[in-house]
Order: sequence, then structure tokens, then C-alpha cells
Amino acid sequence: MKDTIFLIGFMGAGKSTVAEYLERNYGRRAVEMDERIEEQEQMPISGIFEEKGEEYFRELETGLLKSLEKEENLVVSCGGGVPLRPCNVEIMKESGRVVFLTASPETVYERVKNSHNRPLLEKNKNLPFIKSLMDKRRERYEAAADYLVSTDGRSAEEICREIMEKMKNE
Ligand code: S3P
Repeated sequence: MKDTIFLIGFMGAGKSTVAEYLERNYGRRAVEMDERIEEQEQMPISGIFEEKGEEYFRELETGLLKSLEKEENLVVSCGGGVPLRPCNVEIMKESGRVVFLTASPETVYERVKNSHNRPLLEKNKNLPFIKSLMDKRRERYEAAADYLVSTDGRSAEEICREIMEKMKNE
């Protein structure tokens, strides 16, 4: 079965909100990768980065993706760094469709400015940093994606309708 929806995109692109909406309204089972990893490690993401390092965290992400390969009817809210590893992209492509949720740096800033569980942004919560990291990653996100869906100024309902339309029309 290749029916999993993988939501990728920058931090604050709305992946978790969209996954929850698809769970509530379209009968998908939502998997929030960061949350699963925190449960598994019994530690917040920031603690994992601090104590075990980013590479360890990236291995956990790949392990989690592998463990989801055989499940059906999922919508997976991926951590923002997931599409940076080619092996992760391979797993996603094998298991379903990859949806790149886009958001402007301004939108991202507004969405992340009050949160404290994103180690990569913790000391860098400003527009120039967000813009430059986004620019560095954009190509990888686009290469991994089957569809691009904009989230700027749009409700979860609108975004999900567009995702489901795109899946239906292929
Ligand atoms: C990361 C994004 C975060 C989290 C970690 C690293 C990234 O997830 O996995 O802080 O490298 O972009 P969200 O995109 O869900 O915030």
C-alpha cells in the first residue's frame, strides 16, 4: 500500500495542524514525528539535541520513518529536517505521497516566535536567519515533493481540501 500522506516543510509551515485536521475530518491516522520521538526517548526534542546531538536525532527520524512503512491510512507530520536525508526521501516515496507545505518567512516567524522546542531556531528567531535556512533547504524540499501547497493566509480546511483534491486527481 502506498497511501501515506507525508507532510514536509519548514518549521512552522503548519504540518501538525494540517495532520490533525486530516485526522479529524478525513479519517486519517496522524503521526507527529517529533511527538513520537519525544515519547520514545522520554525527553523533549531540545534535550535530545543537547544531550545526544543532532546526528542521533536524525537517526531516530529515519528509524521512525522505517517503522511506519507497513502502516496504512496515515498522515505523517514530518520534522522539518526529514527531507534533507536522501534515504528518508526514498522511504517516503516508497510509502505514499509527499506534500510540501510552503509558508513565507514572515508567516513562519509569526508561528514560531513564542515556541521553545525548536533547537535550531532557539537563538535565531529572526527573519534573516529563517529566510537563509529556508533558502538553503528549498531545493531539497521541492525535490522530495509530489505536490506543493501554500499555507500563507489559509485555513486548515482550505489546505486539506487542496491536498485531497490533488491526491484524487492524479
Ligand atoms: C527541525 C524541525 C523540528 C524538529 C527539530 C529539527 C528541522 O520539527 O524536528 O527541531 O531541522 O527543521 P518541526 O518542523 O515540526 O518544527
